[in-house]
Amino acid sequence: MPVLLLFLFLFHHAPMAAAAADAPSSPELDKTQNSIMKNLSSIVGINSWNSTTPVCNWTGVNCSRSGSGFSMVVTNITLSNYDMYNSSIIAYICNIDTLQSLDLSRNSFTDLGDLFSNTSCRMKEGLQSLNLSSNRLSQPLSNLPRFPQLEVLDLSINHFTGGNLNTYLSSFTNLRSLNLSFNHLNGDVPTSMVSSLAELVLSGNHLSGSIPLGMFNYKNLTLLDLSQNNLTGPVPDKFMNLSKLEILLLSDNRLIGEIPDSLSNVTTLFRFAANLNNFTGQIPSNIANYVRMLDLSYNYLSGKIAPDFLSHPGLQTVDLTGNMLEGAIPRKLSQSLYRLRLGENRLSGNISDSICDGKGLTYLELDNNQLTGNIPSELGKCKNLSLLNLASNNLQGTVPDAISSLDKLVVLELQNNSLSGPIPHTFSGLRSLSTVNLSHNSFTGQIPSGIFKFQMLSTLDLQGNAISGNIPISISSSKSLIELNLANNALTGTIPTMPTTLSTSLNLSHNNLSGSIPSSLGSLSELEILDLSYNSLSGEVPSSLGSLQSLTQLVLSYNDLSGSVPSFRQNVEISTVGNPGLTNGTGNNNDTPITGKKKMHIVVIIIFTIAGALVGLCLLAAAVMMLLSKRIYRVEDEGLPAVESVPQIMNGCLITMNSIHTSAIEFMKAMEAVSNHQNIFLKTRFCTYYKAVMPNGTTYSVKKLNSSDKIFQIGNQEKFAREIEVLGKLTNSNVMVPLAYILTVDSAYLIYEHAYKGTVSDLLHGVQSDVIDWPSRYSIALGVAQGLTFLHGCTQPVLLLDLSTRTIHLKSKNEPQIGDIELYKIIDPSRSTGSFSTIAGTVGYIPPEYAYTMRLTMAGNVYSFGVILLELLTGKPSVTDGIGLAKWALSLSARPAQREQILDTRISGASIAVHSQMLSVLNIALACVAFSPDARPKMRNVLRMLFNAK
Ligand SMILES: *[C@@H]1O[C@H](CO)[C@@H](O)[C@H](O)[C@H]1NC(C)=O
Ligand SMILES: *[C@@H]1O[C@H](CO)[C@@H](O)[C@H](O)[C@H]1NC(C)=O
Ligand SMILES: *[C@@H]1O[C@H](CO)[C@@H](O)[C@H](O)[C@H]1NC(C)=O
Ligand SMILES: *[C@@H]1O[C@H](CO)[C@@H](O)[C@H](O)[C@H]1NC(C)=O
Ligand SMILES: *[C@@H]1O[C@H](CO)[C@@H](O)[C@H](O)[C@H]1NC(C)=O
Repeated sequence: MPVLLLFLFLFHHAPMAAAAADAPSSPELDKTQNSIMKNLSSIVGINSWNSTTPVCNWTGVNCSRSGSGFSMVVTNITLSNYDMYNSSIIAYICNIDTLQSLDLSRNSFTDLGDLFSNTSCRMKEGLQSLNLSSNRLSQPLSNLPRFPQLEVLDLSINHFTGGNLNTYLSSFTNLRSLNLSFNHLNGDVPTSMVSSLAELVLSGNHLSGSIPLGMFNYKNLTLLDLSQNNLTGPVPDKFMNLSKLEILLLSDNRLIGEIPDSLSNVTTLFRFAANLNNFTGQIPSNIANYVRMLDLSYNYLSGKIAPDFLSHPGLQTVDLTGNMLEGAIPRKLSQSLYRLRLGENRLSGNISDSICDGKGLTYLELDNNQLTGNIPSELGKCKNLSLLNLASNNLQGTVPDAISSLDKLVVLELQNNSLSGPIPHTFSGLRSLSTVNLSHNSFTGQIPSGIFKFQMLSTLDLQGNAISGNIPISISSSKSLIELNLANNALTGTIPTMPTTLSTSLNLSHNNLSGSIPSSLGSLSELEILDLSYNSLSGEVPSSLGSLQSLTQLVLSYNDLSGSVPSFRQNVEISTVGNPGLTNGTGNNNDTPITGKKKMHIVVIIIFTIAGALVGLCLLAAAVMMLLSKRIYRVEDEGLPAVESVPQIMNGCLITMNSIHTSAIEFMKAMEAVSNHQNIFLKTRFCTYYKAVMPNGTTYSVKKLNSSDKIFQIGNQEKFAREIEVLGKLTNSNVMVPLAYILTVDSAYLIYEHAYKGTVSDLLHGVQSDVIDWPSRYSIALGVAQGLTFLHGCTQPVLLLDLSTRTIHLKSKNEPQIGDIELYKIIDPSRSTGSFSTIAGTVGYIPPEYAYTMRLTMAGNVYSFGVILLELLTGKPSVTDGIGLAKWALSLSARPAQREQILDTRISGASIAVHSQMLSVLNIALACVAFSPDARPKMRNVLRMLFNAK
C-alpha cells in the first residue's frame, strides 16, 4: 500500500514538479493573447502554428515576460515571405498591444486594413519596428497613421505615392532607421525627421531638388542612400558633420559640381558611390584614404589620378570608367584591390610593371584610353585575373608569354591596339579562357593550333591582323566555339571541318583561302551568318548549305565559285556577286550584297557577370549594371522614342554555372531588349518572349512573365527565386531550362538559350505551306514525351500549367523543347476570379476534370499531351469549329473503320509502315485523352508505348 501510494504520488506530481521548475523561467502566455493568437493561426495557415505547440514557440513569434511578470506576452511577430494577401490578419494583430516588432515583408498585401485606417489599433501605440517591405501597398504615404514609438520603419519596394513627406515623417520621434526606397515618392528630400536618425534610404523614387543642407544635421547617420532619384544641383561640402557615415550612395541623379572634399575626412566611410551624375572637376586626392569601395564612373571628372590614389590599404574596388581623366595610371596598387576599372578616359603613359604587385587583382579594365608602350610581362603575376581588357589603346609590341600563366583568365580583350608579333603558343595554358579578342592589331604568324584545345573557348576574334598559314585542323575538335572571326588576314589553304557548335557567325572573308567550300559546313545547323567572301574559293557551292536551318546571311561574293546556287529557305540573305561562273539557280533569292550592316556587333563593354560564374553566387543588381543600363537608356530616350524605358533591375541572378553563358549574359542588355517591341518573337498566354543579343554576339531568349493578374506570385521574390533556381538545375534536352532570372519592380524575366525555330503549332498550322512528314512529327511526339516523363519523374514533380503546341518550342524541325515549365510554381489559380479551367492552360488542351477538381495533376498533363499527339496525327488545331480535337477523335474512334478518317491523309498514305505506326500512335493518344483521369496511362508508360510503336 505505501508503495502504491508513493507510486501514485510520483505519478501525479512528477509533471507538476517539472512545470514548477520551469515556471520561473517561462510563465504561461497571457490568456487573452493566447486566444487571439489561436484565432489568428486559422487565417495564417502555417504548419507550426498549431495547438500542440505553445504559441510562444510558433515560428516567427517571440514572447517575453509581461510587465507584472506573472505571464508571458507576445512581443515580436515575423511573417515574412508567406505569400499572404489577406489583410484580415491585421485585425487580430492590432489587439496584441504588447507587440514591439511586426515584420510582414515579402508578401502580397495590397491593403493593411486596420493598421492603415484610423480605427483603433492598440498595437500601434507601442510598436518599435515595422517592416512592410516588398508588398503591393499603394496608398499616399501621408495618409498612413502615426506610430509614436517606432524606431525602425521599412516600407521599401511598394507603390507608395506622394510628395512633401516632411509633415508625416516629423511625427516619428524615435526613428532610427527609415527605408522608403523603390516607391513612387516625389518632391524634395525630407529633413523633418528626428535628429537621432541613423539610417536613411530613399533610393529609387522620383525625389527632386537639391540635397538639402538640413541633411547635415543628422549627425548620427551611418547610411545615406539617395541614389536613383532626380536630384540636381551641387552637393554641400559639409560631410565633416556626418562623422559616423559608413555608406553614402548618390548614384544616378543629376548632381553637378565637384565631389565634396570633406568626404575625405570621414574616417568611417567605407563605401561611396556617386556614379552616373554630372560631377566635374578633379577627384579629391584623399577621397580613397578611408573608402574601400569607390564608384565615380560616368561623370565628367577631369585632371590626373593622384599617384598614391590606389595604394591605400583596405581599398577593394575602384571604378572611374567614363570620365575625362588624364595622365598616368598610378603605379602603386593596394594589396586588397581586386577590381579596377579605368576605361573610357584619356589616360596615357605605360601600363606599370608594378600593376600586379597587389596580386589580388581580378578585374582589370583599362580600355579606351591612350595608353602606350608594351603590355608588361609582370601582368603574369596577377594570378587571380579573370578579365583583362586593354582594348582600344595604343599599345605596341608583342603579347608577353607570361600572360599564359593566368589560368583563371576568362576574357581577354586586346583589340584595337598596335600589337604585333605572333600569338603566343603558350596561350594553351589558359584553361578558363572563353572570349579572346585580338582583332585590329598587327599580329603575324600562324594561328596556334593549341588555342582550340581550350574547352571553354566560345568566341575567337582575330580579324584585321596579318595572320598567315592554314586554319589549324584542330579547330574541328573545339567543344564550345560559338563565334569565329578570322576576316581580313592572310590565311591560305583550304577550309577545314568546322565545329558544329558554331552558331553566331563564321567569318573567313578577305583572306586567300582556296579549294572548294567543304560540304561539311552544311552540318552547322545553328549557324546564322556565314561569310566566305573575298577569297579564292572555287568549285560548286555544296547543296548541303541549303539545309542550314538557322542561316540568315550567306556571303559568297568575290570568289571563283561556279555552278549554280542551291536553294535556300526564303529569308536567307545571299550575296554571290563577283563569281563570274556562278549562276543563281533558283531565282527565288535576291542577290543583295551585304552592306556595312553587321548584325553581330561586338560592344566593348563587359560587365562582370563572370563573378557569378566564379563565385557561383547571385549578383544582386550590382550598381554597375544599373548604372550602365541607365546611361544607355538616357541615350535611347533622346534617339528612339518608340522604345519604352528600360526596366530597372532590382535583382538579377545567374542560375547556370556554364561559363559560356555566365560570361555572355548581361542583365542590362536583356532589359534593353525587352524595352523594344520589335524584339518580341512569341507571345503565349502568360508569357512574352524577346530576342536579346548580348555584347559578345550571342543571342538569348528573354521571357517576360505577363504579371497583370493577381494569380501571379512574383511579388514574393524570395520564393520565386527559390523555385526558379530549382528548375534551373534540371537538365533534359527536351525541356527549356532557365539560365538566369531578373526581377524588376513589377515583372519577372527569365533568360534561356535562344534556339527558337518556331513552335510546334507554327510548324503544323503556320503559314508555311509544306506538309510536315510523319517521321518529323513522330520525333516531336517522342521528344515531348521524353521531356514530360522527365518532369513528372523529378523528386518534386514538375507539372505543366499550360501544355499545348504553342508552348512547345522547336530547336529544329524535330527537336522539341517544353517551355513555360515554371508557371505552375508561380501562378496560383485559386486567386483567380474566374474558374480554375480558365486559368489552367489553353482551350482544347484542358482536361474535363479541371472544371471541378481545381487541381493540377499529372493525369491532366497526360490529357494535354494526348491532344498534342492528336494534333500531330491529324494536322488539325486543338479546336475546330468549336469542337475540341479530343472529343472529335473519341467520337470517331468508336468504330474502328472510321479511325482512318482521324489521320492526316496528306501523310498517312506515304507508306504502309507510316500508316501502321500512325494507327498505333492514335491508340496511345486516345488512351491519353480518356475522360476519366484514372484511365489515362502514366507518362512513363506513354513514352514506352511510343517507343514500341516504332
Ligand atoms: C505542429 O508544429 C510542430 C512544430 O512546432 C510540428 O512539428 C508538427 O508537425 C505540427 N503538427 C501538425 C499537426 O501540423
Ligand atoms: C518551447 O520553447 C522553449 C524554449 O525554447 C523550450 O524549452 C520548450 O521545450 C519548447 N516547447 C515545446 C513544446 O516545443
Ligand atoms: C523583437 O523586436 C525588438 C524591437 O524591434 C527587437 O529589439 C528584438 O531584437 C526582437 N527580438 C527578436 C527575438 O527578434
Ligand atoms: C547620437 O547618438 C548618441 C549615442 O547613441 C546620442 O548620445 C546622441 O544624442 C545622438 N545624437 C543625436 C543628435 O540625436
Ligand atoms: C526629373 O526632373 C525633370 C525636371 O527637373 C523632369 O522633366 C523629369 O521628368 C524628372 N524625371 C523623373 C524621372 O522624375
